[in-house]
Amino acid sequence: MQVRTHAAPLSRLEADVLILGVPEKGLTERLKEADAAAGGAIALAMGPQFKGKAEETETLFPVQGLGAPRVVLVGLGEKPLDAESWRRVVSAGVEAARGRARRLAIALPEGLDAAVAAEGAAEAALLSAYEFHPYRTEQDPDEIAIEELILVGASAEAAERGAALARAVSWVRDLSNMPGNKLGVGDLVGQARDLAKSHGLAIHVIEGEDLVKEGLRLVHAVGRGSEMPPAFVTLEYRGAGKDAPVVALVGKGVTFDTGGINIKPRAGMEEMKTDMHGAATVLGVMRVASERKLPVNLVGVMAIAENMPNGNATVPGDVVKAYNGLTVEIVDTDAEGRLILADSLAYTVKNYRPEVVIDLATLTGSIIMALAYEASGLFTNSDSLAAALTAAGEATGERYWRMPIWDVYAEQVRSPIADLRNIGKEKGDAIHAAKFLQNFVGETPWAHLDIAGPSWISEPKPYRPKGSTGVGVRSLIHWLEQRPR
Ligand code: BES
Ligand code: MN
Ligand code: ZN
Repeated sequence: MQVRTHAAPLSRLEADVLILGVPEKGLTERLKEADAAAGGAIALAMGPQFKGKAEETETLFPVQGLGAPRVVLVGLGEKPLDAESWRRVVSAGVEAARGRARRLAIALPEGLDAAVAAEGAAEAALLSAYEFHPYRTEQDPDEIAIEELILVGASAEAAERGAALARAVSWVRDLSNMPGNKLGVGDLVGQARDLAKSHGLAIHVIEGEDLVKEGLRLVHAVGRGSEMPPAFVTLEYRGAGKDAPVVALVGKGVTFDTGGINIKPRAGMEEMKTDMHGAATVLGVMRVASERKLPVNLVGVMAIAENMPNGNATVPGDVVKAYNGLTVEIVDTDAEGRLILADSLAYTVKNYRPEVVIDLATLTGSIIMALAYEASGLFTNSDSLAAALTAAGEATGERYWRMPIWDVYAEQVRSPIADLRNIGKEKGDAIHAAKFLQNFVGETPWAHLDIAGPSWISEPKPYRPKGSTGVGVRSLIHWLEQRPR
């Protein structure tokens, strides 16, 4: 999709559909002008049938004088607009225009900073239009897809910023939507290599038996039952001076999670192709950080494996020594994410001494029971990090909700025969998983984001079609940009 801008007047626009936001309180001066140009069509549409409530839509056709034969009115509601409510308005407009527009225009609203509005419109329009069906053989010849997005009243720079962010999120969605036989361990490593090459990042890959040599035995243990040798990838983006502190991101990259010897039940197992969403998000953040030239030294770490049962697989009860020397009793091979993250966190903390480390993982079904699909679990040893990430989540609509890691939970993951066991003894797995991970970060300020809920949705939500959502990229970029230096 091409993105371009258009300066007023609307009459000079050349589009198939124009999306126009209208407040519930009544038309502003600018909207009254548009209404006059359209011969009063907008005012006529408003009334008991269409009040301008937030995200409510009404399509006008045919309309003359506004540069598009179809005009989709979208309610702006009565509350003052913010970035997230505006993105939801745009999403509602794009839904109403679906199948009607090759050239889609969006008029920026009043009452919101122009750059925020332009970025948000580009972001939400591209993310709403996202589709994933690359393996369909026949394409519908009559299908009308948006080819050109025209932002009325936007600066080209802001429009491009929003579009570039949405393209990175769409890439994360693509990777995460791809099935296990199309994006295996080697393919995901290949994606990291391609990104490193195109964006000038340093990359280091440790694979197969070398993982054992390097002390990353838990990563090896999770991947050893698969035909695809597991891998550990580090990426480095240097946006600040040599002595500036490092921010590290760690992602769970399980390309398919069968559960291993503790194999999962059949229902819904296919969704486990998305179990590398955390790693994909790390790639997405690295990409945007380098494209925006953020003044930060960022390290991205991905532990990549396929969790499969075979004659060589880890079996329940096996004990394996982690990178930091702690021994782990693998009581359940389906609790594999925390194993690969444990090694990854310990490796990252030891070798990069980051100022802060954040891990992202589709870690537990338990967090979905707690927070459903609208929020990720946030577990952290730092109150200031909790506050900053929560704020970034609110601003971007990628909500985080803080969960406890009190020491009373520590005994849940203590093993009688080893230092740790990888599952708790009672209910509350999401917390026990976080408590397990805490053993591998020492005193480093750390946040664990359990994105299992918001990363994959089976019902569409504003600017998120069903399937992988690409969650995490927008909030972490926001967090990086807001971080005091
Ligand atoms: N990848 C899953 C977690 C998951 C479940 C993500 C559903 C998204 C949707 C993880 O590896 C897993 O299998 N967790 C187990 C842990 C259990 C064995 C203690 C779970 O949540 O059932
Ligand atoms: Mn699992
Ligand atoms: Zn998993």
